[in-house]
Amino acid sequence: MAVATAVALLAALGGALWLAARRFVGPRAQRLHGSGDAGLMHGKTVLITGANSGLGRATAAELLRLGARVIMGCRDRARAEEAAGQLRRELSQAGESGPGPGPGPGPGGAGELVVKELDLASLRSVRAFCQEMLQEEPRLDVLINNAGIFQCPYMKTEDGFEMQFGVNHLGHFLLTNLLLGLLKNSAPSRIVVVSSKLYKYGEINFEDLNSEQSYNKSSCYSRSKLANILFTRELARRLEGTNVTVNVLHPGIVRTNLGRHIHVPLLAKPLFDLVSWAFFKTPLEGAQTSIYLASSPEVEGVSGRYFGDCKEEELLPKAMDDSVARKLWDISEVMVGILK
Ligand SMILES: NC(=O)c1ccc[n+]([C@@H]2O[C@H](COP(=O)([O-])OP(=O)(O)OC[C@H]3O[C@@H](n4cnc5c(N)ncnc54)[C@H](OP(=O)(O)O)[C@@H]3O)[C@@H](O)[C@H]2O)c1
Ligand SMILES: *[C@@H]1O[C@H](CO)[C@@H](O)[C@H](O)[C@H]1NC(C)=O
Ligand SMILES: *[C@@H]1O[C@H](CO)[C@@H](O)[C@H](O)[C@H]1NC(C)=O
Repeated sequence: MAVATAVALLAALGGALWLAARRFVGPRAQRLHGSGDAGLMHGKTVLITGANSGLGRATAAELLRLGARVIMGCRDRARAEEAAGQLRRELSQAGESGPGPGPGPGPGGAGELVVKELDLASLRSVRAFCQEMLQEEPRLDVLINNAGIFQCPYMKTEDGFEMQFGVNHLGHFLLTNLLLGLLKNSAPSRIVVVSSKLYKYGEINFEDLNSEQSYNKSSCYSRSKLANILFTRELARRLEGTNVTVNVLHPGIVRTNLGRHIHVPLLAKPLFDLVSWAFFKTPLEGAQTSIYLASSPEVEGVSGRYFGDCKEEELLPKAMDDSVARKLWDISEVMVGILK
């Protein structure tokens, strides 16, 4: 009996040590790219949607460190200002205590953070945001369509779209279209779209894009992420010859607030936390491909491709169906009201 308990305890201890080792000395680097050149993004303006949390926040922190003027497009000004304040503090602390001449604020060093209100669940908000952008920003070098909502209960946006399709696809569709002129005038410029591997389970059901006939929260998320990829490929085709590139990525599985609508039973919570702590990427790890596509000279001129872990990956045929991509584009134009 005592022996069995001891064995079980040892096994548990061994497991915990193994997890800790995996976590801290594992092969995954915190920063795969761009850790050196503090001035890489100096003079560039980057817009990141959903920059107050998770991947968007980590992407903002890193591009700020690389010298960019980072505009945080967020639906809740208070949450965004709080995140911006934290990021500024973290950066100045890193600058003071880091080895050598740290990237302290000031010319040639870190960039700046600007918060602007953007609710992708409201076409009115997207339009107002873009109007402000066009009035106040002389240039836009990188647009990162990052914000997202995952497996929420059935909800509609202000304009009556199913929430996941409305925010993840349609809101970003209108945003990108309204900012295209500014991006073209700032060329060479880049658009980065954050999708997910879960696109594999998605179908574009043109008969019921708002899921009014039946709602399945996981297939709706997958649909919205498949739409992100089809949108990227169609946009890349339309942008040929403009020096504006657009690429799409999956970040892997990352510990963020994305699972806010997922209910984990109380008793399973510690186990879930342990597993996510041990196996999920940190936001900084997950943000590497966004940062890479936004800033690396290696992908200058590359467009219409799908990336994971900073490398190009293959897509399933359903994500490469150009006729579906065109049809989705046309319907999206009608839905958001930009039909010429
Ligand atoms: N985490 C993963 O494992 C994973 C895997 C694959 C793909 N992704 C994708 O990664 C992207 C970032 O997600 P995350 O994991 O970083 O999740 P997160 O921590 O929940 O961040 C999502 C961000 O999107 C914002 N957002 C949600 N609805 C919005 C709206 N209507 N208007 C404007 N902003 C809105 C959120 O704002 P609030 O804070 O105000 O809610 C938040 O800033 C998403 O597109 C997601 O689909 C994540
Ligand atoms: C929702 O769709 C997924 C596949 O995307 C399927 O596995 C699941 O069973 C469906 N759920 C319901 C309630 O139909
Ligand atoms: C694109 O960039 C190339 C190389 O910098 C330049 O020669 C060309 O004029 C640019 N085209 C447009 C449309 O800006």
